Amino acid sequence: MVQASAPGKCILFGEHAVVYGQPAVAVAIDQRMSVSLALNDDWRIDGMSFHPQRHPHVEALRQRLWDGGPPLSIKITGEIPAASGLGSSAALSVAASAALRCARGRQMKGDDWAEGWTAARPNMVYDGPWQVDKGDSLEFGAKSVDEDECAILTHAVEAYAQGGRASPMDSSTCAHGGCIVLSDKVEENLNWLYSRKLNDVTWEVHAVNLANIDDVWLVIGSTGIHAPTSEQVAKVASLLEKQPEKMREIETIGIVSRRGIAALMEGDMESVGRAMSENHLLLRSIGVSCPELETLITAAAPTSLGVKLTGAGGGGCMIALTRNPKLTSEAIELAGGRTLISKLAATGMKVDEDEDSPLWNPFE
Ligand code: MEV
Repeated sequence: MVQASAPGKCILFGEHAVVYGQPAVAVAIDQRMSVSLALNDDWRIDGMSFHPQRHPHVEALRQRLWDGGPPLSIKITGEIPAASGLGSSAALSVAASAALRCARGRQMKGDDWAEGWTAARPNMVYDGPWQVDKGDSLEFGAKSVDEDECAILTHAVEAYAQGGRASPMDSSTCAHGGCIVLSDKVEENLNWLYSRKLNDVTWEVHAVNLANIDDVWLVIGSTGIHAPTSEQVAKVASLLEKQPEKMREIETIGIVSRRGIAALMEGDMESVGRAMSENHLLLRSIGVSCPELETLITAAAPTSLGVKLTGAGGGGCMIALTRNPKLTSEAIELAGGRTLISKLAATGMKVDEDEDSPLWNPFE
């Protein structure tokens, strides 16, 4: 068996505004999705026959990484509720791409890759022209897996599944873990990872080290309401068309995000919390909150440093930054929400089991 896992994510600052080029910040959360693979007589997913149309993310990755390979039994497990704004589909795609890569290994030319997807080679992003020859060697198991490749493949798959509209926020956070900042320009004080481009929009992707931050938790409260991201993004676009002056709110979210990033880097969690609550008021004024989110946010506020909706809004989840996770969680549950507790900035994609790798040697 080969198994890999990846964390979900929470957006701390900048959702919606990031679509218009403003900076945004997400952290990986403790809740994860796992994908395990084993050779099988026919294609199975969680014990059932595999129907590609029911699993578009897995199917798209299968086409890219397992074309012509033998049938697999795929098992998906996880603690991230689907369609809740916590990145369950990105975490699943990152884990699946890591498991598939691990299960087939990577063809190598000496120390260099002979095939794959990487932003490290500017001319070879996505389907770069790799020169794979008979005689190239194979790198096995976990050593063949690369976070950047998982992030690229996941962004491509998410964009496909969302009709072409997806920022790389979820894919990069679920692959690299920690704290990820997107911006329309390279930010001087942050650790720049790479650029991502889709449909003429370019995002600069950065990592922020939060290793010095402890003693605070995120309590995630779910309304249980399913609100598709694409609808919420379209709602904001139509508001901005009808009331162009609302672009001021979008720009102000960008200013608040920058303040939040500076506070995070200084480890000043009181200021981080204040910026989160301010960000929420701005999200409310562009119409993406809802009464159920407001109820949970009001309940969490007295025991928290900051509270806001997270993700697309209209339902889904809110987050509270708190030093009293038990109290905050109880307050949210009493107000009717389901809660998860996470530290900030969990570990990214991991190969959990690679002893049987490779399950397929595409080079034989
Ligand atoms: C959704 O998790 C975040 C949005 O900003 C959409 C996006 O960034 O693609 C609403």
